[in-house]
Amino acid sequence: MRVIIESDYDAMSRRAAEIVVEVVREKPECVLGLATGSTPIGLYKELIRMYREEGLDFSKVRTFNLDEYYGLPPAHPQSYHYFMRQYLFDHINIPPHNINVPRGLVKDVQAYCARYEQMIKEAGGIDIQVLGIGRDGHIGFNEPGSSLASRTRLVALDEQTVKDNARFFGREGDVPRFAITMGVGTIMEARKCLLLASGSKKAKAIAQAVEGSITSQIAASALQMHPDAIVIVDEEAASEMKRRDFYLYTEKMMAERLSR
Ligand code: PGA
Repeated sequence: MRVIIESDYDAMSRRAAEIVVEVVREKPECVLGLATGSTPIGLYKELIRMYREEGLDFSKVRTFNLDEYYGLPPAHPQSYHYFMRQYLFDHINIPPHNINVPRGLVKDVQAYCARYEQMIKEAGGIDIQVLGIGRDGHIGFNEPGSSLASRTRLVALDEQTVKDNARFFGREGDVPRFAITMGVGTIMEARKCLLLASGSKKAKAIAQAVEGSITSQIAASALQMHPDAIVIVDEEAASEMKRRDFYLYTEKMMAERLSR
C-alpha cells in the first residue's frame, strides 16, 4: 500500500487526477471504476479541466460506478446517476453508452447484480478504481461486516451512513435504506485502487484501514492485500496514522530517486 500525504483537499485532488490521467493516457480505452460522495468532486473537476484545456480524451473510456441507492430512478437529483452526470459525465466527451452505474430500479436485483459483474468482466476488468471511505471504514456501500470476498449485491445501509448522507436529502427519512454496491471482492479485482480521504472526520477510518488489522469490520482494510493500492490523504485525514512521518519520508526518497 502506497500512502501519499498532501497538504490539503485541492492538492489531494490534483494528485489523484495525475494518477487517473496516467492510466487514461497510457490506455485510451481503459475502464475506470468511479465513486460518488463529496471526496472525488475535486478529482472530477480536475479531469474536466484537463479535458477542456489539455485535450484529455474520454471518447474510448468506459466507466463502472461503485454503487447506487436502491429505489431511486436515474433522474432523481440524489441518485448517483444524477451525481455523476452533474460532476463529470456532462462535462467530458464520454459516450453515454460507455457509462455504467448500477440501476436503482431493477426488479430482479440478484440477476441484475450478477449481470453487472459480468459486464465488468466483459469490459476486461477495471483498470483503476477510485474510492472514498466512510467514517465506518466502508468502501462503496460495504458497511462493517461485509465479507471481504463479497460481490455486487443489494445491501441495507448502516444507520451512521444514513445519518451522514441525510445532508444531501431534505430529511433523514428521505434517505433510501438500501443500495446496490460492488462488493469488496469486486473492488479488489481492479488492477489499481485509489483511495481518497480528506478532513479530520476521516482520520480514524484511514488509520484503521491503513495500519489496523485486516477485518470485515473496516472494509477498506482489505486494500492492504491489494497489489497496487494507493491511498491519498490530506494532512487532516492523515493525522491519526502512527507511521505518518515514514510515509512522507518514503515518498520523498522515491521522488528524489526518480529525479536523479
Ligand atoms: P464522502 O463519502 O466522500 O461524501 O465523505 C465517502 C463515502 O462514504 O464513501
